Amino acid sequence: MQATATKEQRRQSLRVQMQLARTRSDEIFGLLRNEALYARPIAERHRLIFYLGHLETFEWNLICAGGFGMKSVNPVFDRLFAFGIDPTNGNLPTDAASDWPRQAEIQAYNAHVRSAVDSCFDRSSDDLLFHVAIEHRLMHVETLAYLLHGLTYSMKQSAGSPQAASMKPVMPSQVTVPAGIATLGQDHDAAEFGWDNEFESCIVSVPAFEIDTYKVTNGEYAEFVRSGGYEDRSFWSDAAWEWITASGIRHPKFWKPADGGWVCQTMFADVPFQRDWPVYVSHAEAEAYSRWKKKSLPTEAQYHRAAFGYPDGSESRYPWGNTPPQHMHGNFNFQRWDPTPVNAHPAGNSAFGVADLMGNGWEWTSTVFAPFPGFEPFPFYPGYSADFFDGKHYVMKGGSPRTSAVLLRRSFRNWFQPRYPHVYASFRCVQS
Ligand SMILES: [Fe+2]
Repeated sequence: MQATATKEQRRQSLRVQMQLARTRSDEIFGLLRNEALYARPIAERHRLIFYLGHLETFEWNLICAGGFGMKSVNPVFDRLFAFGIDPTNGNLPTDAASDWPRQAEIQAYNAHVRSAVDSCFDRSSDDLLFHVAIEHRLMHVETLAYLLHGLTYSMKQSAGSPQAASMKPVMPSQVTVPAGIATLGQDHDAAEFGWDNEFESCIVSVPAFEIDTYKVTNGEYAEFVRSGGYEDRSFWSDAAWEWITASGIRHPKFWKPADGGWVCQTMFADVPFQRDWPVYVSHAEAEAYSRWKKKSLPTEAQYHRAAFGYPDGSESRYPWGNTPPQHMHGNFNFQRWDPTPVNAHPAGNSAFGVADLMGNGWEWTSTVFAPFPGFEPFPFYPGYSADFFDGKHYVMKGGSPRTSAVLLRRSFRNWFQPRYPHVYASFRCVQS
């Protein structure tokens, strides 16, 4: 009896999580004024209309067709909306807005798929596909925010953001993290969902290092820009230099020049320059800054050690301990559209006193995305991670204001190309 009740509770929890994830994705599409749905805010990505169909198509192909062999009502949509695009230099999509189906057709398809997915909750004894579907949707809710960020303000209806508490000005400092171990990934018997790249766990021995207490702020990064950092070849790798030179990049993407300085381009309006917000930059720009400071980006293992380690050698689930994430711990889980000052959530500090490690901007690491020993791809989604084990993507840890709390588990890994400036990605530096 007990086992049955537990399974039912689990299934009910998944239903609720799926409903919440759908509410989040509906909310973000609801921000668009009509003409915006066919726009392509980032040249390397699909038009927004693709994503309206993609979330349900993914769930249809994964659960209804793949898991239960259900018969499709629209095989054309099942293929058209199946795959996103990982940007590759020089290969921009060339489709026209008129190539895509009308919104009403897609919404009718989506309604059908949602009820088909709901019917599957009662038919399976395995939770795995549902976890994959829910987290896939939540990850797209975040990447949709990056896409919408690039639209002109008039194409969006403002959703507002709560007022940030005013904080003392940030005083940059460093913390010494003593030598110790870091546990990356998780074991299959841990009974927690994880994507294929999170398995198996591996224990890394990390020598002592110094790490910035806070993420690098807009104010600190402005010193690099003003000192000519974007004009000095010595701070940039060959590929990064070629990229900023060819594209004319001279400052972070979310800054706009104004009156000899900058303003911050947020989701719904330009706002005065926020010195104490984390700077959002590409990996290439973060690396250049760290060279200018004669420091480096942390490895994935150093991030883990600073975030989850304790002086006695033990580790916790989150930087603040083992309690589930709450708003006081950081700027994540859709509380805000914008960053907060990097010192705004002291309750989220790690045991070593490192701040703002979860939320408020993913953190770049110097670690190239690669499998842990024992990696096995999901048989139903073999390319999810393996397609990106190409030496061209870097691991990001933590989370952004638009990252669901579900994705804040210790083993979760995000990854992006180094010269992709559109994501809510911050960084901090280390010295060995
Ligand atoms: Fe996707």
